[in-house]
Amino acid sequence: MRILIVGAGKMGHAVAELAAERGHTVVAMVGGAENPDGTALTAERLRGADVAIEFTRPEAAARNVVRLAEAGLPVVCGTTGWEAELPRVAALVERRGGALLHAANFSVGVHLFLRAARQLAAALAGRSEYDAFILEQHHAAKRDAPSGTARVLREELARADPARAFPITSIRAGATPGTHELAYDGPHERITLSHVARGRRGFAAGALLAAEWLPGHPGVHTFDTMLFGGPG
Ligand SMILES: NC(=O)c1ccc[n+]([C@@H]2O[C@H](COP(=O)([O-])OP(=O)(O)OC[C@H]3O[C@@H](n4cnc5c(N)ncnc54)[C@H](OP(=O)(O)O)[C@@H]3O)[C@@H](O)[C@H]2O)c1
Repeated sequence: MRILIVGAGKMGHAVAELAAERGHTVVAMVGGAENPDGTALTAERLRGADVAIEFTRPEAAARNVVRLAEAGLPVVCGTTGWEAELPRVAALVERRGGALLHAANFSVGVHLFLRAARQLAAALAGRSEYDAFILEQHHAAKRDAPSGTARVLREELARADPARAFPITSIRAGATPGTHELAYDGPHERITLSHVARGRRGFAAGALLAAEWLPGHPGVHTFDTMLFGGPG
């Protein structure tokens, strides 16, 4: 597969490294300085690419995705923080018969974890002898708390078991790897489900999986659609 990478930051490089290991060709890596307002994403520049993977910044993503879709290139986008613009961009992609897969989290394990968590919440609904809680831990430099994934987890658990509270405790310390744990504590035992991330290669692997799948699947997709054939 011939991949165009937009964004030469940490994720762009992680994707490029893993793409090479998996036998793909990176036709170009477009950086921020050469691409104000998406202007480097011309038909000529994109020629020969089968798919684009976009990891840039919130203020750049919508323009990049539109330019890529206008050029007819399927786009995998992992940039976060521009979701308010997603409906407008998605409508444009649909109108053009293009293909877009956007996900705020490309970790396959996180999506499987969320699915398992929903199933656990449904199984324990009505069991008032258990108290549920979410514990999330990250390295000291992570600014936001609770993490976006913890908030998504809480929303999905609340949908599966609306009667129960799912308080979140956040720890920011040292070099702690990104960890999310769902626990149900009962009088005699504790049930836990946890996910521990080992760096950004997991996100790069998920983005590549999406890039391998997306060509030939026109429309606007979520990672769950791709992994599970519908909302997980
Ligand atoms: N979906 C997921 O699973 C996932 C995982 C990790 C991160 N993310 C998200 O992905 C995004 C990138 O993360 P990162 O860790 O790679 O950040 P980063 O290291 O800061 O890299 C962002 C890069 O985007 C470049 N850029 C800015 N505007 C651009 C444009 N118009 N065209 C091309 N490149 C442009 C920047 O270049 P300049 O410095 O030259 O401006 C920078 O190199 C963030 O939104 C992050 O939250 C998502």
